[in-house]
Amino acid sequence: MNSAELLDATPHALQDAAKDHLWMYFARHGQYKTNDVPMIVRGEGCYIYDENDRKIFDGLAGLFTCQIGHGRKELGEAAKTQSDKLSFFPLWGYAHPMAAALAERLADLAPGDLNRVFFTSGGGEAVETAWKLAKNYYKMVGKPTKYKVISRALSYHGTSQGALSITGIPFAKSAFEPLVPGTHKVPNTNFYRAPEHVKHDEKEFGIWAANRIEEAILLEGPETVAAVFLEPVQNSGGCFPPPPGYLDRVREICTKHDVLFVADETITAFGRIGETFAVNRYGVQPDMITCAKGLTSGYAPMGAMIASEKLFEPFNQDTNMFAHGSTFGGHPVAAAVAMKNLDIMENEKINEHVRENESKFRKTLEKLYDLPIVGNIRGEGYFYGIELVKDKETGESFSPQESEKILRGFISKALYEGGIYCRTDDRGDPVIQLAPSLIAEQVHFDESEEKIRKVLLQAQKMY
Ligand SMILES: Cc1ncc(COP(=O)(O)O)c(C=O)c1O
Repeated sequence: MNSAELLDATPHALQDAAKDHLWMYFARHGQYKTNDVPMIVRGEGCYIYDENDRKIFDGLAGLFTCQIGHGRKELGEAAKTQSDKLSFFPLWGYAHPMAAALAERLADLAPGDLNRVFFTSGGGEAVETAWKLAKNYYKMVGKPTKYKVISRALSYHGTSQGALSITGIPFAKSAFEPLVPGTHKVPNTNFYRAPEHVKHDEKEFGIWAANRIEEAILLEGPETVAAVFLEPVQNSGGCFPPPPGYLDRVREICTKHDVLFVADETITAFGRIGETFAVNRYGVQPDMITCAKGLTSGYAPMGAMIASEKLFEPFNQDTNMFAHGSTFGGHPVAAAVAMKNLDIMENEKINEHVRENESKFRKTLEKLYDLPIVGNIRGEGYFYGIELVKDKETGESFSPQESEKILRGFISKALYEGGIYCRTDDRGDPVIQLAPSLIAEQVHFDESEEKIRKVLLQAQKMY
């Protein structure tokens, strides 16, 4: 079959094509010997439709990505206009108008002097770029021994070997060890699982957690540490917002020890937390931001690393250069899509919409607290995690075997079959993660709560 025939083929033929030839990410392929591959065919607003035209609520905006919802024709039109004019040109010593205009726009939106935009094809590549820049910068300014990175337990920063080294999820890393040397992990900001001595005061907990970063810098030797990488609200583990004072303290520590503060905003940027960049909400100034996903609402692949003037300066002298780049970074079609996406977000006041509705979203999800299996609901903006527990009183979690049976074996499938696509994650304690498109309203919050409730009521009978 040629590609036109295949795309018009029956769902059955497409299932065979997927089973026989497609290698999906982080997928247990063995299950597809006996089960169908979930196949998503189209999207509209907050919903996706499968191969049988079943309507499913997209509770994850694809993958924390589709900010303005599915099926917006303007983005495809912007892509076509740009493709007709200049379909491709690389940024290797040349510019094109869309990359220049988008760089200026992002520099305007980013806080303080974060004025230099290095485009990538996605978030992991932006993280990779940020680490390389940190190492290269310190070599340029006469501190060549600074190369190490501090990041947080359970954090996810991408799958390439550098970004994976920064990642704090042992399961994602173990098959690929040894990875890039020089990364060290500190506690994240999961207040629900705070150590006993700081468990009653969120602020105290935040300062304690930030001080673990300083401790790691001192243990490694400040003369060896180049950067701290963290998400303003950490996704993996189930949505950990920064406790009050935490990010300020991290900034203070980084400045004190001449360590770069990199905010990985791959998920949190472009409205997810109600601001273009989440660091603006928390009033903290990083040295670099990495971003991707919502930049184009997923209508084209694109990411960026945004650096401060200070970091660019050594590369702006004589014959110096940052010897790094890729063919597709800053692709003109992706840049045109990003520009249109930012226009739409601005014209339709998407950030304001998130800020106005986030507490309604939270309150709706908090109705689930009446279920014994729901231990903690946390998050900010349109970004929530629901932690599931075996014993609500003590906070006891499920064992890995129970989690396999209940979370992966039942909840995950039952949610999808029940008409909601969202993530169940057991990389830390088991959580359900919700991050719908940023156009979602009360009706969608209600639908999420009802569908999750139905499944959890059944899950509670399994232990
Ligand atoms: C915080 C964070 N950083 C980096 C990445 C990697 O981005 P990508 O999959 O675009 O490479 C992700 C992906 O989910 C992420 O959540």
